[in-house]
Amino acid sequence: MLAVVHAPRELAATTEALRAGGQRVGLVPTMGALHAGHMSLVQAVRDAGATRVVLSVFVNPLQFGPKEDFSKYPRTLPDDLELCRAHGVDVVYAPAAEQMYPPGFQTHVEVEQLTQALEGAARPTHFRGVTTVVAKLFNATGPCVAAFGRKDYQQWRTLERMAADLDMPVQVLGCPILREPDGLAMSSRNRYLQPEHRTRATAIYAGLRGASAAFAAGERRVARLEELARAGVAAAFDSIDYVTVAGAQDLAAPGEQAAEHSVMLVAARIGGTRLIDNAILGQDCLV
Ligand code: PAF
Repeated sequence: MLAVVHAPRELAATTEALRAGGQRVGLVPTMGALHAGHMSLVQAVRDAGATRVVLSVFVNPLQFGPKEDFSKYPRTLPDDLELCRAHGVDVVYAPAAEQMYPPGFQTHVEVEQLTQALEGAARPTHFRGVTTVVAKLFNATGPCVAAFGRKDYQQWRTLERMAADLDMPVQVLGCPILREPDGLAMSSRNRYLQPEHRTRATAIYAGLRGASAAFAAGERRVARLEELARAGVAAAFDSIDYVTVAGAQDLAAPGEQAAEHSVMLVAARIGGTRLIDNAILGQDCLV
């Protein structure tokens, strides 16, 4: 039976009782508008040993900039609950903004270096909002494992760092990107795309595939790998925030040659929608 809770204390009491009964609690933090990618995270925490799954649905105002899509972000709680029931989620945590951030709230969590470039450069307050809300979710839930999608690659690395630096006793999983049959990475924001833009949006996958295949064939020049990924995206999208190779662990700029474990990251805008995607070179996006 799916339990739906709204207050942090209600969640804490629920998971405390689960742990006291010998259950291992897994957490899947989301902003709702759930799709198959989120459900793969539910499976991932189970595969990692969770015997009960908490899924949070909270459109976090703290991680949106003033000109971003907070107000139009899709809110589909009834559908989300149906999907959670169908996938055997045990608890949905759906707090209101004032339950998450009551009057007087003034404490934030910040990961300093990993958050500077890429998404951090394009969205300066974004990661502070993400780390703060996820720290609160970890505290209220007390999970042994939590799963995040690798589509938000920098977010995953940042949250991994936060948990390590703050001695949070939780395993942070980064789970493979789920893609539509034509390669577009699944995302709640895909709902914004007009049909014409939806078709053009596959250019990101095509670019990542080109770069990943070239890397697998021995290409290591960063400029060439970026050029391979960029060309199609530039033609299909209205603008590009970045198409860049970075170290897979530290997200550092690699110099002229890409290392064995490098990730290609893309952020681009089409018809007012900003999409991000990435591939670990020579490993992802090869088919
Ligand atoms: O990836 C997301 O959906 C959000 O950034 C997260 C991790 C749920 C925090 O609000």
